[in-house]
Amino acid sequence: MSAFDLIIKGGTVVTAADRARCDVGIRDGRVVALADHLEGAARIIDASGRLVLPGGIDAHCHLDQPQAQGLASAGARMADDFESGTRSAAFGGTTTIMPFAVQHRGQSLRAAVADYHQRAAGKTYIDYGFHLVVSDPTPAVLGQELPALVEAGCTSLKVYMTYEAMRLSDYQILDVLARARELQALVMIHAESFECLSWLTEKLEAAGKIAPKYHATSRPLAVEREATHRAITLAEIADAALLIVHVSGREAAEEIRRARQKGLNISAETCPQYLLLTEADLDLPGFEGAKCMCSPPPRDKASQAVLWQGLGSGLFDIVSSDHAPYRFDEGGKKRHGLNAPFRKVANGIPGLETRAPLLFSEGVARGRITLERFVALNATNAARIYGLYPRKGTIAVGADADIAIWDAEKRVTIRNADLHHNVDYTPFEGMTLTGWPTTVLSRGEIICQDGVLYGTKGRGRFLECGTPEPVKRIGQRAGEERAWISA
Ligand code: URP
Ligand code: ZN
Ligand code: ZN
Repeated sequence: MSAFDLIIKGGTVVTAADRARCDVGIRDGRVVALADHLEGAARIIDASGRLVLPGGIDAHCHLDQPQAQGLASAGARMADDFESGTRSAAFGGTTTIMPFAVQHRGQSLRAAVADYHQRAAGKTYIDYGFHLVVSDPTPAVLGQELPALVEAGCTSLKVYMTYEAMRLSDYQILDVLARARELQALVMIHAESFECLSWLTEKLEAAGKIAPKYHATSRPLAVEREATHRAITLAEIADAALLIVHVSGREAAEEIRRARQKGLNISAETCPQYLLLTEADLDLPGFEGAKCMCSPPPRDKASQAVLWQGLGSGLFDIVSSDHAPYRFDEGGKKRHGLNAPFRKVANGIPGLETRAPLLFSEGVARGRITLERFVALNATNAARIYGLYPRKGTIAVGADADIAIWDAEKRVTIRNADLHHNVDYTPFEGMTLTGWPTTVLSRGEIICQDGVLYGTKGRGRFLECGTPEPVKRIGQRAGEERAWISA
C-alpha cells in the first residue's frame, strides 16, 4: 500500500507566512506530509514551475436566493444555484464558499437555514458554510433560534443598514450585536445609509435622472462613510466584534482606519469590483452600465488607490466576490425594460470565478501585494475570521488538502463564454490577466484541471464553523467599563 494517495511534486508551496519548494503528501483528503522529497503515492501531480497555494475561500457570495419584495431584485431569479456557483468557484481556484442563508421578515431564521440546506444538498462541488442574514430579530430569533444555529456551526450573521425589506434600525442592530457577543458569533454589516440614499434617489428620479449611472450618484461616498461610522459606533457601544463587508470608498476606509487605531474590534472586506471598476463603468452607452450596478457602487481612482494600499497594509482582511448572479437579460437586470429607473434594476454582479485570478493578477503580478499577502487575503484570513482555521485556508499537516496549483505566467483574457457560471455577462470581459489556477483540489480530489471538470456534483460538504477569531479578542481592549454588560 502507498504511503500517500497523492503527492504534489516540485512546486513552491506558499502560505500566508512564507514559501518553500517542497512536495505535499496527501492521504484521506488531508495534507499529511510536507518535505523536500516524498515518494510512494498512487498518483503524482507534477507542479514544477508552479505555485501550490491554499484553495481560495470566497467568504461572501449569494446563491439561489429568493428575492424579497422591497428589493430592486424582487422577482428576478438568481442565475446560479449551488451547483453552477460551486463549479464556477472551483474553476477560479476557490475551494470553500460562504453564501448566505437569508431570513425574510416574518420568517423563522431556523426555517431559512433549513431551506438553504435543502438548496445546497446534493449539488455542491466544494465545501461550504453559511452566514445567516437576520432581517427580523424577534425575541424568539435572538433568544432561541440564533443560539441553536450558532451551536450548529453558523457562527456569523449579516445585518443590513439599507434595502427596505432587510434593514434593521440602530436599536435592532445594537440588540443583534449584544446577542452575538454573548453567543460568540460575528456580525457582518452592509453599511449604507438607507435614509440618505432614499432621499437622494427620490430627488434624482424627480429630476428625470434615472439611468444606471445615477445609481452611483444616489449612493455617494458620504452615504457609505456615515453608515460605516455609525456601525462602528454601535459595535463600540455593544463592545462587539464587527466585520464591514464590501467596503468600496476611501472615506469608509478612513473610518475603519480610525476605528482600528482606537483599538476597536473591526474587520473589513473589499471586493475586486471596488479595486478595478469605477463609477464611469456605470455610464456606458445604453443600458450597458447596469452590468456594473452593485451596492455600494464602484467609486473613483482615488478610492481604488486607498483600497489597494489597505490590502497591503492589513487594513483589509479579506477580498470576497459578493457574487450576486443576476443575468443581464429580461430575467435579471432588464426585467423592467431598458428605460427602467436605476431603483428597479437588480443590484449585484457576478464574480465567483474571477475573484482570485483578478486579485492575483492585479495584486501580485503587478507588484501591489506579496504572494503571502495574496494567500492571506484569498484564503487564510477568511478561515481565521469565520472559524474554519486551520482545517481550511492553509497548507499544513492536518489541514484539508484544498489546494490550487497556479501557473503564475499564464495569460488569460476573461471571456464570459469561458466562465462556468450561469450569468450571461461578466463586468471584467476582455481584461487580460497574468496567472490562473490550472489544477484545483478539494480534500485531495481533483475538481478541475486545465479547463476540464472532474469533480462530482454533491461531494461538497457543509462546514460547521467554529468561533470567529475576532470574537475571541472581545474583552481584550483596555478601556471604560461597559455598565450595560453587568446591568
Ligand atoms: O449589490 C449587491 N452587493 N448585491 C448583493 C447583496 C448585498 O448587499 O451584498
Ligand atoms: Zn451587502
Ligand atoms: Zn452581498
